[in-house]
Amino acid sequence: MKKILITGGAGFIGSHVVRLFVNKYPDYQIYNLDKLTYAGNLENLKDIEKSPNYHFIKGDIVDAKFIDKLFQENRFEGVIHLAAESHVDRSITDPLEFIYTNIVGTVNLLNAFKQVWKGDLDGKKFYHISTDEVYGTLGETGSFTEKTPYDPHSPYSASKASSDHLVRAYHDTFGLPVVISNCSNNYGPNQFPEKLLPLFIHNIKNNKPLPVYGKGLNTRDWLYVEDHASAIDLIFHRGKSGETYNIGGNNEWKNIDLILKLCGIMDKKLGRTPGTSEKLVTFVKDRAGHDLRYAIDSSKLQAELDWNPSVNFEQGLEKTVDWYLSNEAWLENVTSGDYQKYYEEQYGKREIREIRH
Ligand code: NAD
Ligand code: DAU
Repeated sequence: MKKILITGGAGFIGSHVVRLFVNKYPDYQIYNLDKLTYAGNLENLKDIEKSPNYHFIKGDIVDAKFIDKLFQENRFEGVIHLAAESHVDRSITDPLEFIYTNIVGTVNLLNAFKQVWKGDLDGKKFYHISTDEVYGTLGETGSFTEKTPYDPHSPYSASKASSDHLVRAYHDTFGLPVVISNCSNNYGPNQFPEKLLPLFIHNIKNNKPLPVYGKGLNTRDWLYVEDHASAIDLIFHRGKSGETYNIGGNNEWKNIDLILKLCGIMDKKLGRTPGTSEKLVTFVKDRAGHDLRYAIDSSKLQAELDWNPSVNFEQGLEKTVDWYLSNEAWLENVTSGDYQKYYEEQYGKREIREIRH
């Protein structure tokens, strides 16, 4: 394949995937299609924007006419589809945007891909990037496998589950060569500071309260973003059509334990007395429908494609903190303007249950 469309390439994970593909595959032409919503930022790709095999297209996947024309003109042989509305809290306040982008946008891409390649599907691939949240929530034990029944609880995860079903339906009904992966929580550079780790790094730095939902007992399985990108590379090239692969870090953390660990690292990096940052921990009203625990069984990916996470969590977390501390301009840029309004709406009136100190 030579011409590859990556959607959502200006976002957090997408930018790491674009960088990997542009640098690793000079023979490929990489097209990054992104609407540049609040979460999309071309600053994330400054280092590769002049590469001869990189092309940026600003556009909306919800616009079917535009997508059809784009595919007719470019005949992308491979698609790696990451564009999405991705934040659970925003899906609780504004679900409809998630339905348009995550469901309608995905179907528009499937239709355009089908239209261009009907009867000539050999060597083509449509790769849909999804989340472990489609599987719902776990109790104290067990992990999600590719066979775990879907049971989404937030408008975000329901919209992703719906898009996964549609991608599979296009495989079963129209024979499209599709592959899906469902990954756990990513962390690393360039993540928008609405998500737990960058938000808390930003707040600690600015001595602002750390809004921990509920009692902080929810558990997530954390994976360094470049390890997700390396799994995407493998699955795109070697994943079998019609198959699903789970991707996870085998690295579970209860939120409160992770937050206290982060506070310790931040004290050290900012030269503060140990114990200073954890005094910012503030327990607030829980997220509605908050899933208790996610854990991924990625043994299929390990066995079939020989993938394993390569970044050790201690090092990954330090690297992440260092990146945010040394990229102040990036952080200031994305937290100016509309971010303040978002923050006030999400947290300004949120009921405080307990302050740690
Ligand atoms: P993100 O919010 O950082 O980036 C999303 C990107 O999509 C942005 O650049 C945005 O501008 C673009 N976009 C949004 N709506 C669009 C539209 N209508 N048309 C074109 N572009 C549009 O998201 P992320 O965290 O990088 O997640 C990327 C993908 O990976 C998503 O599909 C998400 O569901 C999935 N995922 C994320 C995680 C995670 O931990 N972040 C884990 C598993 C799966
Ligand atoms: O599991 C994969 C998913 O991980 C992706 O599909 C989503 O796109 C991504 O946003 C992420 O979803 P989460 O809801 O798990 O991530 P978030 O960073 O929003 O929250 C992580 C945990 O921290 C969760 O239990 C909620 C909690 N939390 C989050 C925020 C933003 C807080 O306690 N306080 C907060 O302010």
